[in-house]
Amino acid sequence: MDSLIVVDHPLARHLLAGLRDAETPPERFRHLSKRLSSVLILEATRNLPTRQARVDTPLEGADVELLDGGVVAVPILRAGLGLLEAATDLLPEVQVGYAGLERDEQTLQPTSYYLKVPELTGRSVLLLDPMLATGGSAAFAVSLLKQRGATDLQLVCVVAAPEGLERLHSEHPDVRVVTSALDDRLNDVGYIVPGLGDFGDRLFGTS
Ligand code: PRP
Ligand code: URA
Repeated sequence: MDSLIVVDHPLARHLLAGLRDAETPPERFRHLSKRLSSVLILEATRNLPTRQARVDTPLEGADVELLDGGVVAVPILRAGLGLLEAATDLLPEVQVGYAGLERDEQTLQPTSYYLKVPELTGRSVLLLDPMLATGGSAAFAVSLLKQRGATDLQLVCVVAAPEGLERLHSEHPDVRVVTSALDDRLNDVGYIVPGLGDFGDRLFGTS
C-alpha cells in the first residue's frame, strides 16, 4: 500500500481552492472543509475489509458485500473537528475518539491535554488532522494511539508539508497519509506555505 496518497480529483482541487482563499469566511470554510473531508475519507476507506452476505432484493436473492470490521475516527482537537462530521456521515457506525494536542507557538512541540479513545486493537483508525506541518503533532498522536493498541492507522489531512511527511514516515513508516495537497515548505514559524493559514482559527472564527 502506498504510504502517501494525494487525492487526484478535480472536486478535491476545487474545494481546496476555497479553503486556501484568505477571503473565505468561517461559515463557508466549515462547509468546504466538510465536503473536502468526505472526498478524503472515501479515499482513506477504499481498502476497508468487507464480508460477503446475501440479501433479497424485491426481485430475487443477490450476493452483496458489507463493511467488516470497525473503524475508529480520532480527530486531533481542535482543527481535526473540521473533518469529523464527514466521517460520521459516511460511516454511521464509526466509533469516535478524541486527542487534544496543542503546538507551542515558540518551540512547535506538541503537548497532550486530553485523550479519550475506544478500543483500538483490530480497528482501522483514521486520525483526522487537517495540517501536517512539522509532523510533530501527528507523530505524537500516532505514538499515543499505538500505546493504546492501534496497529492500522491512517492520517487524513488537507495539506501536508514535505517536512511533516518526512518526520511522520521516519517515526511511523507504517502510517499512510491521505491528503489533498503536498505543499512546498514550512515558513520560519512552522506554517505551511502556501498552505491556508491557521486551520483551527479559520474553522472556528478565532484569531
Ligand atoms: C495545528 C494543526 C495540527 C498542528 C500541525 O494545530 O491542526 O494539529 O497544528 O502542526 P505540526 O505538524 O507542526 O505539529 P494547533 O496546535 O494550531 O491547534 P488547534 O487545532 O487547536 O488550532
Ligand atoms: N497549523 C495550521 O493550522 N496551519 C499551518 O500552516 C501549520 C500548522
